[in-house]
Amino acid sequence: MSAPLPIVRTVAQLRARVGAWRKAGHSIGFVPTMGALHEGHLSLIRLAMARADHVVASIFVNPTQFGPNEDFDTYPRDEARDAALLGGAGCHLLYAPEVAEMYPPGAFTTVTVSGVSEPLDGLARPGHFAGVATVVAKLLNQCAPDIAVFGEKDFQQLQVIRRLVQDLDIPVEIVGGPTARAEDGLALSSRNAYLTPEQRVIAPRLNGVLRETLARLSAGAAVEATEAWATAELLSAGFKSVDYIEARAPDTLARLGPGPAIGVIRVLAAARLGRTRLIDNIGNG
Ligand code: PAJ
Repeated sequence: MSAPLPIVRTVAQLRARVGAWRKAGHSIGFVPTMGALHEGHLSLIRLAMARADHVVASIFVNPTQFGPNEDFDTYPRDEARDAALLGGAGCHLLYAPEVAEMYPPGAFTTVTVSGVSEPLDGLARPGHFAGVATVVAKLLNQCAPDIAVFGEKDFQQLQVIRRLVQDLDIPVEIVGGPTARAEDGLALSSRNAYLTPEQRVIAPRLNGVLRETLARLSAGAAVEATEAWATAELLSAGFKSVDYIEARAPDTLARLGPGPAIGVIRVLAAARLGRTRLIDNIGNG
C-alpha cells in the first residue's frame, strides 16, 4: 500500500512544500479542481505527472463562480474518496483550503477577463468567469507551479485562463487536456451524477449533435442554419432548453458565419436536461 496523500489547507503550508521541491531543483505541475473527481480529472493528473517532477492537485468548491440559483450547496463533496483517487493516480500533494483561507474577510480584488469570457457561458452564467479567473489567479500565485493543466471539456474556461495568464504575466505554462468521455460519448462531469437513468440515456445526444454539427460545417453548410438545426435536434431529443450551440473561432471565441465557416472551428454547447446543465464542445484543429 502506498502512503496516504499528504493534505495541506493553508497557503503557508502549500508554499513550504512546493518551496522545498523547488529548492531541490524539481519542477511542479498543478491541477486545480472542485473535487467529485472522475476519470477526466485523473487524466489531467497523469498529464501533469508526465510533464513535471511533482504534482499538486487542489480541491476547492469556489463559491464566487456559482450563481445565486446554482448548485454550490449541493455540489458533491467527498474529500476522503477524492484523496484516495488522487493518491492512486500518483499525485504528490492535495491542497484543500477552507473558504476563509481563500477569501479572508476584507478581500475585495477580483479579476475580470474581457472578450473571451463574454459570450456563451459568460451570458448564461453572469459573474461565473470573474469567479473562475479570480480563484485561478489566486491558486496560481499560491502554488507557483511550472505548468498548470486544465481540461478542454470546459473550453471557454481554458481560453479565459490562457488569456488571464498572458495578460497578467503569470509565469506558468497552461496545458490543455483532451475531454475524457464515457463509451457512449457523454463527456465525464461531476454533474452527471445528478442525471436520472432516463436522462442519462438522452445525455450523449449532446456529443452526437455536436459531432453532426461539426461534420455539416466542415462540409460547407451555413453556420446560422446549422446552429438552428442543432438546437431543434437537441430539443427533440428531450433536452429541456438549449443555452447555446454555436460555432466559434477557437482562440477568440468570435462568432463564425452566418455563411459557411472557413478555417478552424470549435462548436460549443450548453443544454439543460431536467435540472442538470450539461456542456460540451468539439473542434477540428
Ligand atoms: P472542475 O469542474 O472540478 O474541473 C477541474 C478540471 O477538470 C478543469 O480543468 C476541467 O476542465 C477538467 N475536466 C472536467 N471534466 C473533464 C473531462 N471529462 N475530461 C477532461 N478534463 C475534465 O473547472 C473547475 O473545476 C473550476 O472552474 C476550477 C478551474 C477548479 C476553478 O474553480
